[in-house]
Amino acid sequence: MAPLLAPSLLAADFSRLGEQVRECALAGAPYLHLDVMDGHFVPNLTFGAGLIRALRSHAPELVFDAHLMVSRPDDFIAPMAEAGVNALTVHAEACLHLQRTLSAIRAAGMKAGVALNPATGLDSLRYVLGDLDLVLVMTVNPGFGGQSFLPQAAKKVSELAALRAESGASFLISVDGGVDAKTAPELVRSGADILVSGSFVFGHPGGIAGGLAALKDVIS
Ligand code: DX5
Ligand code: ZN
Repeated sequence: MAPLLAPSLLAADFSRLGEQVRECALAGAPYLHLDVMDGHFVPNLTFGAGLIRALRSHAPELVFDAHLMVSRPDDFIAPMAEAGVNALTVHAEACLHLQRTLSAIRAAGMKAGVALNPATGLDSLRYVLGDLDLVLVMTVNPGFGGQSFLPQAAKKVSELAALRAESGASFLISVDGGVDAKTAPELVRSGADILVSGSFVFGHPGGIAGGLAALKDVIS
């Protein structure tokens, strides 16, 4: 499967979000990555279900992939489903009862994902492999866009791909943070299926379409 591209809305022009979401869809991005931060799990605040719901009509064809960087992810499951989120990712570090949370996400009609901070190992996933549709490997510490890629993350992606192969699980592997034309090829070689990219795509001189094309170019 060719890797899927997921522009991260965190790097968009917040004064014209609707337009930018439309542009992502017209440029053929299959996914839209939505970073929800609560100022507690990470030292930054972004947006919540209300804004996501407002954006849904601008791009009905995009997979809305929400990345919850919040301390109490269970409280967000129903609001995110109602807002039109298709895939909901929670941080392993924020979940006391990870299996219960993943089941609740699926029961709400969404794909269930787990994100791992750079310092978190793969162990927390071992007994929930069957409950997972997506694993998001953080390639920076979460909280802000525009940070430098942590090179040790590529090894984690390969180990995760090996764990998936040996267990027969079928989740997608996504990578998030510092993904650009330089870092993408190694991540794809390591086993990434979805590339989340914020500053590179939205800051590209050729606009969103130019950024996505540049990424496609280096991974094809
Ligand atoms: C960081 C977010 C990322 C962020 C990536 O906490 O999870 O999705 O938008 O931005 P870049 O691509 O600029 O590193
Ligand atoms: Zn993210």
